[in-house]
Amino acid sequence: MLRRLTLFLASNGRITDFIRRKGMSTGFARRFVAGETLDEAVQAIVELNRAGMTASLDFLGESITDRGEAGKAAGHYLEILDAISRASIRCNISVKLTQLGLDIDLSIALENMRHILTKAKEYEIFVRIDMEGSRYTELTLEAFRQLHREFGNGVGPVLQSYLYRTEADLESLMPLKPNVRLCKGAYMEPPEVAFPDKADVDKNYVRLLEKLLLEAGYTGIATHDEAIIRHARRFIADKRIGQERFEFQMLYGIRRDLQARLVREGYKLRVYVPYGSQWLPYFMRRLGERPANLWFVLRNVFKG
Ligand code: FDA
Repeated sequence: MLRRLTLFLASNGRITDFIRRKGMSTGFARRFVAGETLDEAVQAIVELNRAGMTASLDFLGESITDRGEAGKAAGHYLEILDAISRASIRCNISVKLTQLGLDIDLSIALENMRHILTKAKEYEIFVRIDMEGSRYTELTLEAFRQLHREFGNGVGPVLQSYLYRTEADLESLMPLKPNVRLCKGAYMEPPEVAFPDKADVDKNYVRLLEKLLLEAGYTGIATHDEAIIRHARRFIADKRIGQERFEFQMLYGIRRDLQARLVREGYKLRVYVPYGSQWLPYFMRRLGERPANLWFVLRNVFKG
């Protein structure tokens, strides 16, 4: 219901125009987005590092259908890698294949990924491939498998617990001992491909997480769900899973209290830090996840 309302808002030109125009200047988009420039993002990560957290930097952008633009996005990621190295920040990168040309052709996204991964390897920086809507799942995993053959665990995929197919995907990836980020999934999906009930998504998350913690090379536990985090902590302690096998991951600006608490208690915590001028789709997904976020923005719209 809430997601549908957000989608309605996202399709309402006046509202999205307002959010696009005012989100950064009045500051309400900055709650979830580190800024529009790389300098702003690096500064945010310096502060996270200071607080004992690592980061994953995401240059926002998706659904690029022009080959030149996809190449430019890849070029920007090369600059990001240089900037990470220059600033000596503890940070890896997250990329979306539709930003790198997947909508044009898989071969273009792969070519761009190879440029990024070659440089990332020089700097020993890990590259995470974000998972997008379900029409891209198969291609994204195929790209990951190809790149894993060339770059090993310098690259890792994301799995989403809301998809029925994920359990089988995980089984088929396990022989690679991959570095996997597990999340619930952020896109509007039909009941033919994804669990419609949140309780089933959560149950599946726990099932997949236990398998990952026991068998994967490395697990990014990407959630703000306190019940799941409690369960993960108990499971990790019971099975004596070492700190080198997992980390918690959360989004920039969400549950900062919980982020700080996990660090205080000695867990590794990575914050996903998005930045760039194309922040609207990311921002709208965050709004759809929690009613309070939506009212917060609507209040700003009416004030404006
Ligand atoms: P859930 O939605 O149940 O929320 C649990 C609690 O977290 C809420 O009760 C609330 O307190 C807090 N919370 C969650 N979302 C909030 C919000 N927007 N604002 C304020 N509070 C909020 N998705 C995807 O499809 N592909 C991907 O590649 C990624 N990558 C990714 C990386 C990382 C590091 C994280 C943490 C998440 C993703 N996601 C993602 C997003 C993910 O799929 C999911 O949409 C969000 O994490 C919200 O789900 P939770 O697991 O937090 O649980």
